[in-house]
Amino acid sequence: MAHLLVTGGAGFIGANFVHFWQARHPGDRVVVLDALTYAGNRASLAAAERLPGFRFVQGDIGERQRVENLLREEAIDTIVNFAAESHVDRSIHGPEVFVEVNVAGTQVLLEAARSVWLAADRPRGEHRFHHVSTDEVYGSLAPDDPPVSERSAYAPNSPYAASKAAADHLVRAYNRTYGLRTLVSNCSNNYGPYQFPEKLIPLCLVRLLAGEPLPIYGDGLNIRDWMHVEDHCRGIELVLEHGRPGETYNLGGDCERNNLETVRLLCRLVDQAFEDDPALGIRFPAAPPVHGQQCRDRIELVDDRPGHDRRYAVDSTKARRELGFEPRLELERGLAATVRWYLDNEPWWRAVMDGSYRTWIDRQYSG
Ligand code: NAD
Ligand code: TYD
Repeated sequence: MAHLLVTGGAGFIGANFVHFWQARHPGDRVVVLDALTYAGNRASLAAAERLPGFRFVQGDIGERQRVENLLREEAIDTIVNFAAESHVDRSIHGPEVFVEVNVAGTQVLLEAARSVWLAADRPRGEHRFHHVSTDEVYGSLAPDDPPVSERSAYAPNSPYAASKAAADHLVRAYNRTYGLRTLVSNCSNNYGPYQFPEKLIPLCLVRLLAGEPLPIYGDGLNIRDWMHVEDHCRGIELVLEHGRPGETYNLGGDCERNNLETVRLLCRLVDQAFEDDPALGIRFPAAPPVHGQQCRDRIELVDDRPGHDRRYAVDSTKARRELGFEPRLELERGLAATVRWYLDNEPWWRAVMDGSYRTWIDRQYSG
């Protein structure tokens, strides 16, 4: 039986990971440590809280003593670190907190793990420190560049990506210097249930339902490599169970699409959902299909994001060869399931779109 500490477990990927892990490892202890920032929602863990072996702790990964106490008291042997500030646009407006949480916070977590797991008077035992990172650390690719592998150079372009890159280097250093059994996974763009509606897909979805325009940056031809969050969770599980300590693994969706293609596909799926279920027109009277319009007509090209990376694409050969990793949910199927989830879980997204969310969105997209 493993004892997991899942930091940032009330966020998008963390919450999906908790549900995924509980379903697959019902005997394990799962402790979530989350500061509940604007992006963290305890409601995303409602189903997890009903199961035995689960505990939620509200707290900051930067509180060293607190983390150490938790590691000892819960006999934690596995840390999965999702805790982070994760939105590129927010990092452009306020980079400081990205350094505080993503860099300094990760270092405190590493130090707490080192002092508890590698203490001189303790048997070393089995432990795993899994750091969840992003493909954005590698920077932008030209159209003909090969996808990034673990050997590609780091070249982060946004404060978010730079903070994640710095954290990755610290994780590596704690392995090489102290022998902490670390693992890093660098994954491409995720979508799926519980994603905060500031990221492209849920943002467009909830705006369509409200009859609002879809703001697509620049010429809309920036490419992302999309992966359903469930595939990412499966990838992390494989890395945790079979990855070699000290190694990093790239996880990609094998699904490069430019933003216009992705958003047009989403629009088509929403049109279809309204056609299939006339009751949606009563719940969402401002949505384009209710007015005889197509959702894609609401796409608007707006000013580009500064430093906007043109293309991401991830080569997962190492994870495929060593771990048998393979993304399973093809984009159209995964997006259709995501549209369904947001339609079925309106109270969840209404609740997270509170005052501070509105302030941010109004600042981003007014005029
Ligand atoms: P998210 O913003 O939805 O969730 C982040 C969570 O971390 C929130 O619950 C928040 O409350 C918590 N948190 C923030 N600061 C904290 C602190 N100081 N102490 C404790 N908890 C804190 O992010 P996400 O999209 O779920 O991403 C999770 C991780 O995966 C991040 O590290 C991100 O860099 C990485 N990642 C994300 C994607 C993606 O497409 N979303 C892709 C690859 C990697
Ligand atoms: P995002 O979801 O913010 O993820 P990331 O920047 O980490 O890749 O954005 C995905 C893509 O969508 C990215 O190219 C930026 C673009 N985008 C828009 O065009 N409009 C938007 O309102 C947002 C949030 C993103």
